[in-house]
Amino acid sequence: MTAGIEAREYTSVAPHRVAFLGLGVMGYPMAGHLARAGHAVTVYNRTASKSEAWCAEFAGAGAVKQAETPQAAAQGAALVFCCVGNDDDLRSVALGADGAFAGMRPGAIFVDHTTASAEVARELYATARERGLQFVDAPVSGGQAGAQKGVLTVMCGGDAAAFDAMQPVAMAYARACTRIGASGSGQLAKMVNQTCIAGMVQGLSEAIAFGQQAGLDMPLVLDVIGKGAAQSWQMDNRGRTMVEGRFDFGFAVDWMRKDLGLVLAEARRNGALLPVTALVDQFYAEVQRSGGRRWDTSSLITRLTPDEPR
Ligand SMILES: NC(=O)c1ccc[n+]([C@@H]2O[C@H](COP(=O)([O-])OP(=O)(O)OC[C@H]3O[C@@H](n4cnc5c(N)ncnc54)[C@H](OP(=O)(O)O)[C@@H]3O)[C@@H](O)[C@H]2O)c1
Repeated sequence: MTAGIEAREYTSVAPHRVAFLGLGVMGYPMAGHLARAGHAVTVYNRTASKSEAWCAEFAGAGAVKQAETPQAAAQGAALVFCCVGNDDDLRSVALGADGAFAGMRPGAIFVDHTTASAEVARELYATARERGLQFVDAPVSGGQAGAQKGVLTVMCGGDAAAFDAMQPVAMAYARACTRIGASGSGQLAKMVNQTCIAGMVQGLSEAIAFGQQAGLDMPLVLDVIGKGAAQSWQMDNRGRTMVEGRFDFGFAVDWMRKDLGLVLAEARRNGALLPVTALVDQFYAEVQRSGGRRWDTSSLITRLTPDEPR
């Protein structure tokens, strides 16, 4: 694995000692940008071979090292960044016997980039405060390409002082990093983001399938309408590959179902009505059943188009 990160200009920030937990598709390049921006980065990954590869790749950027546990990685760090899969993974790397909270120094800030529930964010925020630590929920949008280019959008929840301390450092891999409100607000904003995407991708799928059925030159149609009111990130970045029937990249359907599960659970709590989102979640379940668990979310169109890829 390599980060595939692209060179970018970094705003000058005092070098910090930081930890990064979870070197997956997102975490690996994000941690790489932190090293390139001049921070001393200690990484932890459950599968140690990824930490080794990361250290080899970024050794030239400065003081990088790997740790065998989240606790060891967090020792002495002012900021502990994390990007793992879901609520349970997050609890395990933060609160487990050799979790990060056990190694963090008083006042240190845990910044969680996992897409997780607002509940787990509030739970870890409260535990962090009890232990003299700080916690910011900070899910991201922008995908693997955004992480590699260092242009993610980061939505944060937590105390203003903790946010003010982490924001300049996180800008190494972001083009926007904004505090939405109190603990959990970052995760709630990410749920808004995923709700927008669910409806958008279904609409785009229906539009493309309709155009194909009508015999139109769809790459041409997308070029034309992409300059009008129907334009969207999904149309710009996924329209053409949807027409081609290519889905072996991008943001996996399994992850989208996890995210929509979080959205629908939160909606049950707060009373919001999400009829289209609930339906699209079921459509994604059909895509999973037909073998598309790791396909990009744009594979929603496969429910509407003939089996044979064009
Ligand atoms: N990929 C995207 O486009 C995208 C975009 C926005 C947000 N997100 C969100 O960002 C998060 C990470 O996504 P990703 O694509 O980077 O996932 P990924 O490639 O599957 O990486 C997950 C990382 O979490 C680690 N991990 C999982 N469970 C763990 C546990 N119990 N203990 C310790 N480490 C654990 C994995 O370690 P191993 O290497 O040992 O498996 C890996 O480093 C998810 O919440 C996802 O929804 C992803």
